[in-house]
Amino acid sequence: MINQIKVNNSGIVNLQHYDDSPDGVLVIGESLRSVPFEIKRIYYITNFGDSVAIRGKHAHKELEQIIFCIHGSFLLHLDDGINKQDIIMDDPSVGIKLGNFLWHTMTKFSIDCVILVVASDYYSESDYIRDYKEFLKYVIRD
Ligand code: TYD
Repeated sequence: MINQIKVNNSGIVNLQHYDDSPDGVLVIGESLRSVPFEIKRIYYITNFGDSVAIRGKHAHKELEQIIFCIHGSFLLHLDDGINKQDIIMDDPSVGIKLGNFLWHTMTKFSIDCVILVVASDYYSESDYIRDYKEFLKYVIRD
């Protein structure tokens, strides 16, 4: 369980949830309430056939996102250019904020993993920083 974020431009988003066991667990996220921005886009990632898959490996210039693991588990690696943190994602009601200029990589997906991401804006390739050296130039200023 994650209780402290050590990188910049991140944070923990705890969603309200109701455990109606054995009738399921209900988890609720609301734009501009528990999710700290207006949600313009959602996407989800499923069908991890290979636990050696790697996703992410980029940062964004402006986009803000919250990433959730709504089933199974994966490992989230965060890097603000100075501090690094690995977070085990296995709680559907706990999201991690991927703020701008935060390099993020996802690995170690369980085969049943389902990732949900809510984003503050529409897809724009020009908002991506996909080169790590370029990312460091943005965040490390002397
Ligand atoms: P990418 O964001 O690199 O995936 P991940 O971070 O999960 O590894 O996106 C993979 C491809 O999908 C890339 O070619 C862009 C495209 N894409 C869209 O067209 N729209 C979207 O909303 C997203 C997230 C990706």
